[in-house]
Amino acid sequence: MSVTIGIDVGTSGTKTLAIDESGKILASASSEYPCSHPKPGWSEQDPELWWTATQETLRAVLSAGTFRPADVAGVGLSGQMHGSVFLDADGRVVRPALLWNDQRTAAECAEIEERAGGLEALIGMVANRALTGFTAPKILWVRRHEPAKWEKVRQVLLPKDYIRYRLTGTYATEVSDASGTLLLDVANRRWSRDLLGKLDLDPALLPACYESPEVSATISAIGSEATGLPVGVKVVGGGGDQPAGAVGNGIVRQGVVSATMGTSGVVFAHAQHLGFDPEGRLQRGCASVPGEYHVMGVVLSAGGSLQWFRNELGKAEVALAKEQKIDPYQILTAEAALAGPGAEGLFFLPYLTGERSPHFDPDAKGGWLGLTVRHGRPHMVRAVMEGATFAMRDSLELIRDMGVAIEQIRVSGGGARNALWKQIQADIYGSDVHTINASEGPAYGVALLALVGTGAYASVPEACDATIMTVESTSVDPKAKAYYDRAYKVYRDLYQNLKGSFREISELVARGM
Ligand code: XUL
Repeated sequence: MSVTIGIDVGTSGTKTLAIDESGKILASASSEYPCSHPKPGWSEQDPELWWTATQETLRAVLSAGTFRPADVAGVGLSGQMHGSVFLDADGRVVRPALLWNDQRTAAECAEIEERAGGLEALIGMVANRALTGFTAPKILWVRRHEPAKWEKVRQVLLPKDYIRYRLTGTYATEVSDASGTLLLDVANRRWSRDLLGKLDLDPALLPACYESPEVSATISAIGSEATGLPVGVKVVGGGGDQPAGAVGNGIVRQGVVSATMGTSGVVFAHAQHLGFDPEGRLQRGCASVPGEYHVMGVVLSAGGSLQWFRNELGKAEVALAKEQKIDPYQILTAEAALAGPGAEGLFFLPYLTGERSPHFDPDAKGGWLGLTVRHGRPHMVRAVMEGATFAMRDSLELIRDMGVAIEQIRVSGGGARNALWKQIQADIYGSDVHTINASEGPAYGVALLALVGTGAYASVPEACDATIMTVESTSVDPKAKAYYDRAYKVYRDLYQNLKGSFREISELVARGM
């Protein structure tokens, strides 16, 4: 039996699983850890937490008794993207890692755009605009604000690549995660010497860059001692959590798109060619399929908007759910079902934490519009679900505009576990939506990549075809679709009409009384 292991170093915890060649999960374990926010908008983690969780979960999976450690042929690594681990000449961590959701780098993003020669020039070099979450602005921040620490830095790694270093002693990354650093020449799948030069950054700070299924290193004696994995086991490149999750969802051919409605919402499309968008309204990167690409839109508060409603306005539903021993979302969505499509003209803007795609506006704000005395809680809940879904449609429209055809939409996350939300998604996206048999996301995706890298399958699509299939579909209701198409135009105008006021509200709040 040939077994591979997938490890996903997430923001709230690390998940590890083992699969056999047919894709069957043999064992899995997860371990949680906290995130620290030393100042508003800052987000950091000690990489040692990831390593401890990796050791714990690997030991749990290896001792599950469903396979022998000697059967492990390969390991794949995935993790939160964009985070920056700063190491000194001896491979020791210099300061806590800055994470993807850290917002301290607005000035550095502006600096990068300027040094690159403007937005279009930057996008020409690295296929993306500078976002505060990305790695390059974090590097510039540490260089500017912590010169004594910066003096010591010799290597900058992404979170999962730090785990690779602890397991193998090798500094390496792969193209899908490297795409989120803002330092990769995505079109040519190598570090951008051009941009590194303009930012005065030494290319030696960055590790060797592989394709996702390529073998990057092997388990060292130290890595083996710490985890129980045998010495010499191959570690493939792996992938950032979004591109690796795409492999786990079988999004490996052009035309198949995923819409994942978690706290944030991600619309992810596989693309054979990189395409071009001069405004950089979507994140673009290398796919985990060698030679191919992805485009992705991120809605910051998708499921998060309903979560906010539950926490702040749904206390009665939460109490009732506790009494009935059911999930509060069950009660909330049953309430939403009482209102028809469009919630009688009530709209909700889901920009509760600003917005990434397509507005890139930290000042964007949420709210209901169109309230009348006829509206009650069912309309308000339904409008929240519809608003989050309209925001996802914004990214789908941009993907279509870039010439990437959308033939099948696969839904996952909280929005795929609820029948009403699946129907709303089908009707607003204007396309049937499908769910698949696998729900383990990135850890599963990189375990599949390890199957490819160790020879069980000839290619990533072949591995996905053998293991992943759609299991359920929700069809579009043509009447609801026609209504939502008209309502979507109104939804789009609302942000455009209000964005000036959103900025003024931010200024008002910043100035205070
Ligand atoms: C992707 C992104 C998140 C992080 C954390 O661009 O910011 O998905 O990878 O999960």
